[in-house]
Amino acid sequence: IQTEALEKIGQAADTKELQEIKVAYLGKKGSLTNVLRGMGKISKEERPVIGEMANKVREAITATLNEKSEKLELVALEKQLEKEAIDVTLPGRPIKVGGPHLLTKIVEEIEDLFIGMGFEVREGPEVETDYYNFEALNLPKGHPARDMQDTFYLTNELLMRTHTSPVQARTMREFDGQKPVKMICPGKVYRRDTDDATHSHQFTQIEGLYVDKNVTMSDLKGILDVFAKKMFGADREIRLRPSFFPFTEPSVEMDISCKVCGGEGCSVCKGTGWIEILGAGMVHPNVLSMAGYDPEVYTGFAFGMGPERIAMLKYGVNDIRQFYTNDIRFLKQYHNA
Ligand code: PHE
Repeated sequence: IQTEALEKIGQAADTKELQEIKVAYLGKKGSLTNVLRGMGKISKEERPVIGEMANKVREAITATLNEKSEKLELVALEKQLEKEAIDVTLPGRPIKVGGPHLLTKIVEEIEDLFIGMGFEVREGPEVETDYYNFEALNLPKGHPARDMQDTFYLTNELLMRTHTSPVQARTMREFDGQKPVKMICPGKVYRRDTDDATHSHQFTQIEGLYVDKNVTMSDLKGILDVFAKKMFGADREIRLRPSFFPFTEPSVEMDISCKVCGGEGCSVCKGTGWIEILGAGMVHPNVLSMAGYDPEVYTGFAFGMGPERIAMLKYGVNDIRQFYTNDIRFLKQYHNA
């Protein structure tokens, strides 16, 4: 029995097998237990001899079992340690960090620039009333110029704002027709356009408004000149061309000078060496008086620009959809711009 048991213990591969062997030899129905049970049938003289032998066998088996069990536990522990080992000399995996969106950066850059010139940053609602989006801006119902901006209407009176100009009217209202207003307003705007490389049904604008006594067109030109040079470089020139907006009179569009490029992939500065970047003008007397300002006393200028267009010019982005499709390869290029 002993030889057989010790051999089996030696071959056991895990603690479960070891437990089975223990039961088979030392358990209630185990073979050694059977021998001890049979003692009654043996003669008095033989009993101590057999008894001693059986005890020795039990001791031997138990000792070997314990020894083997310790060994197996050690092996299992080593295996686990090996599996969980960490090679601290391996180079770490870089953690992926995000960064601000190119558009966010441009808007913040423009904000900082105007804050530096004494403008306050304001906001207005994207769901706007027909009144503020159009009527208060000298665009009564049925005015043909309403078609300049194809509109998403929600109800008869509610719409998605087509520009940030309603914030002009809202701010002047808030300022009671008394105090000077000097603010910019960045925000999202919406138009019923078919998306392509230069159109998006949703894009952003930054509105500017300066109303006070004696504000003139040369104030407008001066501020826009500073803006263009700080944004694009000191060597840039600006020019104002006559234009039309119902809420400004006179109205202008501003171009900045650019180096002419040519050929495939050139979308930035074709042909003339000038590129249009914003609309502006002197606030129309009707807009001033509807908002409670006396146009005999107060004058003002306003402008509206598209940060996408500015970012496209500054960084040579040639498709406005890049700002909204969020291809990580596009966005990543500008994390350190
Ligand atoms: N709101 C005009 C547009 O979206 C831009 C503009 C703003 C023009 C302010 C003049 C003054 O086209």
